[in-house]
Amino acid sequence: MSLPLNSQAYLRAPQDFLVPAQGESLFITQKLPFLGRCTLVLGHAECQEFLKDSDRFAVDARNAGADSPFGMKFLPKSLKRLSNNLLSLDDPDHRRLRRLVDQPFRRVSIDELKPRIREACDGLVHDMVKSGEPDLVEGLCRQLPLIVIYDLLGFSGALRERLDSLLQGLTATANIFNVLRGLTLLGPVQRMLEDEFERVRREPGPGLVTELVHAEADGERMSDDELVAMVFVLFIAGHETTKHLISTGLYTLLTTPGAADAYRAMDEDGRGIAVDELVRYCAPVQMTKPRYAREDTEFHGLHLKQGDRLVGMLAAANLDPRVFEDPVSLDLTRRPNRHMGWGGGPHICLGLHLARAEAQAAFDCLLDGWPGLTLGVDPDRLKWIPRSGLRGLKQLPVIFG
Ligand code: HEM
Repeated sequence: MSLPLNSQAYLRAPQDFLVPAQGESLFITQKLPFLGRCTLVLGHAECQEFLKDSDRFAVDARNAGADSPFGMKFLPKSLKRLSNNLLSLDDPDHRRLRRLVDQPFRRVSIDELKPRIREACDGLVHDMVKSGEPDLVEGLCRQLPLIVIYDLLGFSGALRERLDSLLQGLTATANIFNVLRGLTLLGPVQRMLEDEFERVRREPGPGLVTELVHAEADGERMSDDELVAMVFVLFIAGHETTKHLISTGLYTLLTTPGAADAYRAMDEDGRGIAVDELVRYCAPVQMTKPRYAREDTEFHGLHLKQGDRLVGMLAAANLDPRVFEDPVSLDLTRRPNRHMGWGGGPHICLGLHLARAEAQAAFDCLLDGWPGLTLGVDPDRLKWIPRSGLRGLKQLPVIFG
């Protein structure tokens, strides 16, 4: 695998890694698509530092005297509503919303879901084998995170179908027709969600959506706008990311000599450690959203003006030789593993225990259940998604053996 130091090459080819080498600059300033001029932060310590420092760096451009990069005022109302989401809010709103949603995503709560996640995996793999579908991305990686989040939220029937079509529209290959199709569905889906909130206000059900609707912090409940944005962020932040962790993780296990057998021989704790190493090594989320300097400030010798953007290059931080021994090698027993694949600071991934559980269920099901599992194509012929912020495979054909 080539290891380009040039970030331009990296941004065009997300299957490759960007390594901060000793002596190389830990910051690169350049234009990113849709965002404009950003400073990319490559070092582990530096990434940790600015992501944690929400007093100096804001996620909402308006808190840094800047215009939103997406020209918010021209967006339709249905899109604007989604800006009330966790990843776009600073304190105090972020802290309040995060407290309301943290509990169901704690490790203990996710442990209770594990048997259902495994059951969903077994069902999907069983269907693949029965129908002769060889592509794991379509047969398992895309569907598992959706099934799990629908189940967690307690969504079923028509709402689930509508959300499916919407997500297909929003996440399929970006072309204007898909985007327009996605946008036309956005309003109707939001109305269906509001009906669902109303329904569970009257008749509380078993899913997370009931918990969210009734959750209170300091005597306040979430508004409908906040609830809609919360549901969307769970889908958007949790769907493609987990899909890519499962596909690239399995690809890595199957193509690194001895890795699949090493995983098979591990106990439950060992497998948890292995999954985290796959998050470090594969880095399905390659970079954070931008943070904006709230005031003119200095950061590791950089003179930042109010509104300047910093982006954490998590994939690069995960290969920082100052933190990780032999960083470009996969070590399924790596401990400690202070990788940044889940981000850092107050916006650290809310769904990390859920994503770990899903990935482990998928690897357990495929590797324990199919000792002869191999790739169905030459690895060089696999196609990677052409997006700079995420790293994933378009397809992953396998032979079950
Ligand atoms: C935030 C990674 C799965 C929900 C983040 C961030 C990263 C990340 C790097 C921080 C982004 C930033 O600071 O700009 C991942 C990876 C996943 C994954 C690698 C899978 C392999 C999930 C899942 C869910 C989820 C399954 C929920 C169902 C969220 C939410 C946030 C977030 C809500 C925003 C948290 C906040 O702003 O407080 N994730 N994620 N993620 N993630 Fe994940």
